[in-house]
Amino acid sequence: MSLTGKHALVTGGSRGIGRGIVLKLAEKGVKVAINYRQDKAAASDTLAKVRERGSDGLIIQADVSRPEDVRRMLKEVQAAFGRLDIFVSNALGEIFTYYRPPLEITPEQWDRAVDSQAKAFLVGAQEAAQLMGKGGRIIAITYRPAGLTGGWQPYVAQGSAKAALESLVRYFAVALASRGITVNALSPGVTEDSVLNALPQAVQDGLRAWHLAGWTPMGRLGTPADIGNAVALLSSEEAGWVTGQVIAVDGGASLMNPDFTLEIQRG
Ligand SMILES: NC(=O)c1ccc[n+]([C@@H]2O[C@H](COP(=O)([O-])OP(=O)(O)OC[C@H]3O[C@@H](n4cnc5c(N)ncnc54)[C@H](OP(=O)(O)O)[C@@H]3O)[C@@H](O)[C@H]2O)c1
Repeated sequence: MSLTGKHALVTGGSRGIGRGIVLKLAEKGVKVAINYRQDKAAASDTLAKVRERGSDGLIIQADVSRPEDVRRMLKEVQAAFGRLDIFVSNALGEIFTYYRPPLEITPEQWDRAVDSQAKAFLVGAQEAAQLMGKGGRIIAITYRPAGLTGGWQPYVAQGSAKAALESLVRYFAVALASRGITVNALSPGVTEDSVLNALPQAVQDGLRAWHLAGWTPMGRLGTPADIGNAVALLSSEEAGWVTGQVIAVDGGASLMNPDFTLEIQRG
C-alpha cells in the first residue's frame, strides 16, 4: 500500500501519537506538514526523521484552538504543497489546564477543551476540504470512552469536547461524501510515548499493569506507530467506502466489560 506523492497535515505532529502518524505517513511516501504549538525543537526533530525516511515536509507553528491560526496554517500548507490529500486533527490541547471535575471546572476551562478539540476540527476540516480533491481523507483522533462514559471525573471537559468532535465527524462525512472525501475518527487505547509519559511514574506503572493483566486483550499498550498504521490504512484508496465512523485502535480494550472481574470474563 503506497501513498507516494500524497500530501498531509498532522496537527500536534511534533510529539506523541502525532509523531507516530507523521513518521508512518513519511514511510509510505507522503510529504507531511508537521504542526506544533510551542516545542519547535521537537517539531524540527520530527521533520529530520521524516527526511531520514526519504520523504520531506515542513513545520508549522499554530495554536489550533485559535481559528485565525488554523486558517493561516492551511494557507502555509497551500503555499508549500499546492493541495492537501490527508488532514489529521490530532493535537491534544493544554489538557492539564482543564483537567477538573464537573463541580469545579470553570466555563473558561471548558471553552479551552472545546476550542482545542471540536472547534479546531470544525475550522480545520472546513479549510482543509478547500484544498482537497476526490480521494481526500480527513481523520480526527478521539478518545471514545471519554465521550461515552462519566467515570473519569476530571476528564469532563475533554470527554465532552471529544463527543462534539465525533459528532462533527459524522456531519462532515455527509457534507463531503459527494466530493469523494472521507471523514472518520480513530480512537486509540492508552498509548506509550504520549501524554501518558507526563503522568506520575506510579500512575503510568499502574496503567500498564492494568492493561497487561487483561483489560487490553492483546496484552500491551498501543504505540504511536500503531495509530500511524491505522491512519495509513484509512488514507489508502481501498478505504474509500469507509466514512463517518469512529474506529477503535486499542488492541481490543473497548471489548472488555467493566461489570465483571477479569476472572469471570475469561470464564
Ligand atoms: N495518549 C493516549 O494514550 C491517547 C489515547 C487516546 C487518544 N489520544 C489522543 O491522541 C491525541 C494526541 O495525544 P498525545 O498523547 O500524543 O499528546 P502529546 O504527546 O502530549 O502531544 C501533544 C501534541 O499536540 C500539540 N499541541 C498541544 N496543544 C496544541 C495546540 N493548542 N495547538 C497545536 N498543537 C498543540 C503538542 O505540540 P507542543 O509540544 O508544541 O505543544 C504536541 O505535538 C490527542 O487528541 C489525544 O486526545 C491519546
